[in-house]
Amino acid sequence: MTTYGNLINGEWVVTGTTFNNINPSDTNDIIGVYSTAGEPEVKAAIAAARTAFETWQYSTPQQRFDILDAAGTEILARKAELGALLSREEGKTLPEGIGEVTRAGHIFKYFAGEALRAHGEVLDSVRPGIKVEITREPVGVIGLICPWNFPIAIPAWKMAPAIAFGNTVVCKPAELTPGCAWALADILTRAGLPKGVLNVVFARGSVAGPLLIDGCDAITFTGSVPTGTRVRDAAVAKGKRIQCEMGGKNPVIVLDDADLNIAVNSVLNSSFFSSGHRCTASSRIIVTEGIADKFVSALADAAKAIKVGDSRADGVQMGPIASQEQLKIAQDAVATAKAQGGVVVAGGEDLTFGTPGYYYAPTLIDKTTPDMAINKEEVFGPVASVIRVKDLEEAIKVANDTEMGLSAGICTSSLKAAETFKRKAQAGMVMVNLPTAGVDYHVPFGGRKASSYGPREQGAYAKEFYTIVKTAYTFAG
Ligand code: UN1
Repeated sequence: MTTYGNLINGEWVVTGTTFNNINPSDTNDIIGVYSTAGEPEVKAAIAAARTAFETWQYSTPQQRFDILDAAGTEILARKAELGALLSREEGKTLPEGIGEVTRAGHIFKYFAGEALRAHGEVLDSVRPGIKVEITREPVGVIGLICPWNFPIAIPAWKMAPAIAFGNTVVCKPAELTPGCAWALADILTRAGLPKGVLNVVFARGSVAGPLLIDGCDAITFTGSVPTGTRVRDAAVAKGKRIQCEMGGKNPVIVLDDADLNIAVNSVLNSSFFSSGHRCTASSRIIVTEGIADKFVSALADAAKAIKVGDSRADGVQMGPIASQEQLKIAQDAVATAKAQGGVVVAGGEDLTFGTPGYYYAPTLIDKTTPDMAINKEEVFGPVASVIRVKDLEEAIKVANDTEMGLSAGICTSSLKAAETFKRKAQAGMVMVNLPTAGVDYHVPFGGRKASSYGPREQGAYAKEFYTIVKTAYTFAG
């Protein structure tokens, strides 16, 4: 088997140690062997990005557009193949994998355009004869710490704006999903990105994290709350620019007047699809009494009917859990919920399909209360719990009763209830009659409270993180 190398200063660097990329649908299936980067390689990558920044910061918008646009074109042309790789290494279904690759292609195209649209402002000074210009400059070397659950879309939405605005990059993909990040590095290199502008290192977080925080000008992180909080504190202590997207414990309110089909499908999608491996997944389903029995029974039936199996098999709607560690988190969370009085109305068990994989049934737990662990801690698996409430006011109170604040949803046919919820929900993104997960790529993404820190990602707002403002005063005499 070939060993896939780290991309450092335009070279594929192979070290003495390797790790395997394993298929969670069938752990006997080794997808590829990747070379582990250690401290010297991470340091070399940062140094290469630092040198490349000297010239890349002055590259033209046309040059950046051409490279990002070409990368987007290749990603879209190869979406079936790359989608299959994604599905094989992460475990989401083939249609979900192809969908994510398509999203990544569109992200590169969008930020290709952003390179051309970058503009400043000109104002008259309050003093006579003086012109004031406000421009945006690249920040420098950006360190990317990426999670495994969106192995192509998240590196894409960090790399593309970094490059579009003239920064250079050191990317550390998740150890669980190196394949898509390697493919992106290969595509961008062949699209004409000069050496050192993008470096990709397959290093352990404990090795790469401190080095990136030390050596980069800015860090963008997506991952868990505990790790993100540590990265944030270390970066802030060193005065580094930092952006963290972390967990969610996202609520969906289902009111008596909800359209039952819309409500069931929205929750089904955002609680169970992609095996619940989305920080935007719904996990707290807050239901008013008048619809609760009907809704819970319809949702439980729909959850039981989800076809689980090998991520790439025909007709499968939910693949495996991505790793043994994540599987155990789901198993333990369900056991604790049961012990605390929750009633499992769908799932709650491991599944087997003839191959060794991390299969777990979509799980719905009824009769839970806001103080139970299941409603406090992120499971990041296909597990949702039901909290019954009396009215909208109580529902919003329960929805906001969390340390997190990423996404929140409501299912209702009342305009008044929807508007009240949109105003009062303490979340970065609010959804009406839609799943809490599955967002657009051209608008801001991010949360409040412990879910996020720093400027928003994506869309036109991405420039707040990837550029730094300069104010110039000119007196022409
Ligand atoms: C989505 O719901 O479409 O890690 C995207 C995550 C998020 C991305 C969610 N940063 O799950």
